[in-house]
Amino acid sequence: MTNQRGAVPHNAPVTVVGLGPMGLALAEALLDRGHPTTVWNRTPAKADGVVTKGAHRVESVAEAVSASPVVIICLKDYETMYGVLGSAADVLPGRVLVNLNSGTPSEAITAAGWAAKNGVAYLDGAIMVPPPLVGHPDSAFLYSGSEEVFSEHRETLASMGAPRFLGADPGLAVLHNTALLGMMYATMNGFMHAAALVGSANVPAVEFADLAINWFMPTVVDSTLLAQAADLDAARYPGDLGTMQMNLNALEHIVRTCVEQGVHADQARHLASIAEQALDAGHRDENYLAVFEVFKKAS
Ligand SMILES: NC(=O)c1ccc[n+]([C@@H]2O[C@H](COP(=O)([O-])OP(=O)(O)OC[C@H]3O[C@@H](n4cnc5c(N)ncnc54)[C@H](OP(=O)(O)O)[C@@H]3O)[C@@H](O)[C@H]2O)c1
Repeated sequence: MTNQRGAVPHNAPVTVVGLGPMGLALAEALLDRGHPTTVWNRTPAKADGVVTKGAHRVESVAEAVSASPVVIICLKDYETMYGVLGSAADVLPGRVLVNLNSGTPSEAITAAGWAAKNGVAYLDGAIMVPPPLVGHPDSAFLYSGSEEVFSEHRETLASMGAPRFLGADPGLAVLHNTALLGMMYATMNGFMHAAALVGSANVPAVEFADLAINWFMPTVVDSTLLAQAADLDAARYPGDLGTMQMNLNALEHIVRTCVEQGVHADQARHLASIAEQALDAGHRDENYLAVFEVFKKAS
């Protein structure tokens, strides 16, 4: 099953175990790129759509695992994976499992240990796009664990999106996934709260979005996050252009404005309380990025 470079060819057979919205999207993307695709799901009828597109539905997990050298797992969580694969223990040795369900780093590390004990080559992964974007060449798929498995099956993984290997620690993919999701929720909340605040003066969100995004990208993303990321690594927070105390004043100003406008103020209060913790930790005269020192410790 390997080509001249030792990598698996791009139309290699693949099995997908788990056909929720994401598993279905993975199976469709694999079919679209010519992979003979075997599928199994607890509720078999969910495979109807992909079967009409050429997928081979099997009745047991053991048949599914036996059908292809690479088995993609896309179930609810790690516990579900152990439960589902329990009935296929005899046929697991020698297979490659690529687990794409979400979880915590310790769950991923435990799963890699479980795979090693069961004679299975294992790659842990995380999908960074919703189902409609699966199969797009720019869609980020993160992987960690066995670099050998990643390199050997890179072309197959590329049929689902843009594969990126993060390192030998199996927990790295889900750790990055969780960090990015946290950033996504914080950013979405920031935008929605700002839209609610200007909405209190009857400004439509679509009108505000144009101003907000065109301000946010150059001023916050480019000038602060990208330009000053090295300062985070160096713990360097010069306060010559603005101090933590000045930023706490700004956050308290947001809280007062929310109250005045009759808009939800908890998020702004929470941000202010984090800045207060930075002040209490001795960062009063440093810039706002010193909040990073607060985030590095458990609360
Ligand atoms: N959907 C997204 O936007 C998205 C994006 C990135 C990552 N993910 C991750 O991808 C994974 C799958 O997500 P999903 O959206 O497809 O839906 P999901 O609801 O997280 O998972 C559904 C799948 O898990 C199966 N399942 C649940 N409990 C089971 C059990 N006790 N025994 C056997 N199978 C069981 C379901 O089988 P039945 O069909 O029989 O119920 C179905 O195949 C999750 O870990 C999710 O976090 C999803």
